[in-house]
Amino acid sequence: MTTIKAPLPPDGYAASMDAVLDPFAALTEEHAELTRLFAHHQEALLDRDWAMAARLLGGYRERLYRHMEIEERFVLDPAQVPAAAHQRWTTELYRAEHRRVRLYLEKVDEWLTRARHHGAPAGMLIGLLDRERTLKHLLEHHHHREEVALFADLRGSLPARVRAALGRALAEPAPAAP
Ligand SMILES: [Fe+2]
Ligand SMILES: [Fe+2]
Repeated sequence: MTTIKAPLPPDGYAASMDAVLDPFAALTEEHAELTRLFAHHQEALLDRDWAMAARLLGGYRERLYRHMEIEERFVLDPAQVPAAAHQRWTTELYRAEHRRVRLYLEKVDEWLTRARHHGAPAGMLIGLLDRERTLKHLLEHHHHREEVALFADLRGSLPARVRAALGRALAEPAPAAP
């Protein structure tokens, strides 16, 4: 008897299905993944591997910006979600936090470029780590707020059409890690 083997699913297939089935769990998992990526960047900094640190920060920024853009398109767009669905905080508050995060990330990126330009002295590494600490606190606070308020509020009230579109957007392959 001939057995016909089904082709193996491509990498990321299971994660993609998870995103479609539960987009809020997928957004929460992305928060954890972003935290891991930033830690890798900081490990490269501590090794004084500036080229690698810059590359990892670039990859991190790409992933974070994609994540925030998806949130703004589906769960923070008043045209997609009735205002009453947001029980604790307004969409504007989350969007303002995204703007602050982008601003700080740009500052970190500029400081990293300057430090490399000046031969990366220890003092500039300390200055960079100080700026990164502020960014990390901002993001920890923002991710926590989203997980306990935004996602919890919308889990049962996001219109089915928007939920499905959000799941599909999250299932799209993310940029490869550098
Ligand atoms: Fe966010
Ligand atoms: Fe988020």
